[in-house]
Order: sequence, then C-alpha cells, then structure tokens
Amino acid sequence: METEIINISKSENKEEIYSKLTTYYKEGKLIAIPTETVYGLSANAMNDEAVSKIYEAKGRPSDNPLIVHFYEMSQLDSIVNYNDENIKKLINNFWPGPMTLILNAKDNNGVSKKVTAGLNTLAVRMPSNITAREILKETEVLLAAPSANTSGKPSPTKFEHVYHDLNGKIDVIIEDEQSDIGLESTVIDCTRYPLVIARPGEITKEDIEGVLGEGSVKYNEEILTKNTTPIAPGMKYRHYSPEADLVLFNDSFEKLISILKERDKKTGFITYKEMESEVDFLNVSVKYLADNEKSVEQSNKNLYNILREFDEEEVEEIFILPIEETKENKALLNRLNKAISKK
Ligand code: TXA
Ligand code: MG
Repeated sequence: METEIINISKSENKEEIYSKLTTYYKEGKLIAIPTETVYGLSANAMNDEAVSKIYEAKGRPSDNPLIVHFYEMSQLDSIVNYNDENIKKLINNFWPGPMTLILNAKDNNGVSKKVTAGLNTLAVRMPSNITAREILKETEVLLAAPSANTSGKPSPTKFEHVYHDLNGKIDVIIEDEQSDIGLESTVIDCTRYPLVIARPGEITKEDIEGVLGEGSVKYNEEILTKNTTPIAPGMKYRHYSPEADLVLFNDSFEKLISILKERDKKTGFITYKEMESEVDFLNVSVKYLADNEKSVEQSNKNLYNILREFDEEEVEEIFILPIEETKENKALLNRLNKAISKK
C-alpha cells in the first residue's frame, strides 16, 4: 500500500485536505494523526472494518480495547453515561488534554464492538493538540485511535517514528511536530469509586486529588490482588520496548560507571545532562533524558525518542542510571519498568 504523507500546517488549501480526510474516514481508511501525548492511528470508530484494520496494521491483540477520541461534549453524550459530579469535575479540569476516562457505554451507541473488545465500558478522550482538534472538528467523526506504533514498540512521539513503523501499512500519515508530552494519557477508570488510575500519565494522582479530594482515587496496583488482572488490558503486555536489553540500574551511580568502563558490547547509556562531565570519557553511546531528575516533563518528552534512537544505532544493551520514584515521575518509571519486564 502507498502511504500518503500530508502536512496540514504547511498546506495552502486546508479545506480541501479536511474534505479529503472526511471522505477517507467514511471509506474506512487508516490515518495517523498527532496528539499532545503520542501520535495515534485513527479510524472511524463506528466502522467495524476500519477498526479491524487498526489491529491488523499494528499487530495488536484483539482483546486490547481502543480509546475513542472526540471534539465536543455533545458527541460524548451520545456514546457514554457519566452522570456523576466527580466525573464532571475531572472533565472540566482536564479536558481537552492528556486524560482518558473509562465510562459505561450507552446501549446501541453505534460504536463498533471491535473498539471495546467486548467490554461494556468505553475509554474516551478529548485531545488538546491543535491539529488533532481541527481534524476531529472538521471531519465530524469519532476516532478510535491507539498509539501509532507497531504493537510492543515504544509509542511514536515524532512523525519519523510513525513512518518507520507504519509506512506502507496505512493510508495516510499526518506530518506534524514532536508530541508535547511524549507519554500516553492517564487512563482513569470511572466505573468504580474510589476511581482507579489504570495507566499513570502526565496527570498524576495528586492532580486528581487536588480536584476531587484525598482518597478519591487509587493506583491500579493498590487494588490488585494476585488473582486479578490490570483494568486496562494493554497494561498486561510487555510494552514500549526497544530491541536492546534494557537495564534499570539499582545500585549507585559510581558502581554503574565502573561497569560501563568495562563494557565490550555495543552499549547505550541514559543519564542526565548534569552528569556530563562524569560520563563523557566512557566508550558507550550516552543520551540525556533531561537536564536533571527534577525535569520530569522533559524526561517524559524524550524517553521514547531516545529508545528509538538506540534502536537505530543497533546497541545491544541500554543502561539507565538509578532513578528514585517520586510523585511526579510515576508514569516515566511505569513505562521504563514495562519496557524491561519480559512477558
Ligand atoms: O495518549 C493516549 O492515550 C494515546 C493517544 C493516541 O490518544 N493513545 C493510546 O492508546 O495510548 P493505546 O491503545 O495505545 O492505549 C489505550 C489503553 C490500553 O492500555 C487499553 O487496554 C486501555 O487504554 N483501554 C482502552 N479501553 C479500555 C476499557 N474500556 N477498559 C479498560 N481499559 C481500556
Ligand atoms: Mg499503545
């Protein structure tokens, strides 16, 4: 398949592009679009065949449901029930933005059963990225969209990442800037109380408690017992992984440096810019996650790009300096741990 590359912001005739995209969605085509979190692989959520093609193009297990993206609240009203003050507060505070809510689906809402993989809940999100919003507004479709990567690879935060994974497999890629946030949205299960964070993201537990009060929300791990599975089916798979072996180093920084001095494999090392003078003599490929460990937003934005750059360099192993968990870096460490865990 020939993949068409479209750059909307550089184009002279936006109207023409939007009418073309509207036709494409009606025809069930697959279109990769930018969002503020990561690029998404979108298709008309009401069209069974189109949604099936999403799973095929990504090589995604069909029991892993998709998020429906929408432009305005009237669209949401037609597909889910959310008559609850807490949910309304979350919506008012965090949408449009990097928050996905799991809500009870309305009966016969027209959304393809393939989107929800048989569940009677539906994950929904109103993205804030300008291009994504324009596309949703002008085409007036509800878009089912997972991250636009091959299943198991790090999510795409740049046009080039989408091109690498999906060129030749999908109909269109919308070329745009690097994703602002760089990690996937916070997924909140609102079908129970306390609410549950099924996937941590830029919007933290503390952010949510700031709006709904303490005790209003828990992490998935806090309610998991041995026999239960994660709320978001996607969280059970090994994920976000580069080709190389990834090692999250738990000993001291000094110990790590002494190990890296001895390396005879082709090795990558992820650290902070403030360590530069301590690492620049090493015979390994060094990449900086951010200036220092306090720059969590910068780290989130860079992580997937760095993992993909190491793949390009074909390093065999990647070491990451010890990072202590804080309230702010939960999402970052969650993705790193997912990337190292074997199935
Ligand atoms: O930031 C994001 O959320 C990006 C952009 C493109 O919006 N999308 C994204 O989609 O990360 P995806 O498919 O890669 O991840 C969606 C996650 C998966 O872990 C999936 O299992 C979970 O949301 N999910 C979707 N629908 C669900 C439902 N009804 N119940 C529980 N979990 C659900
Ligand atoms: Mg994904």
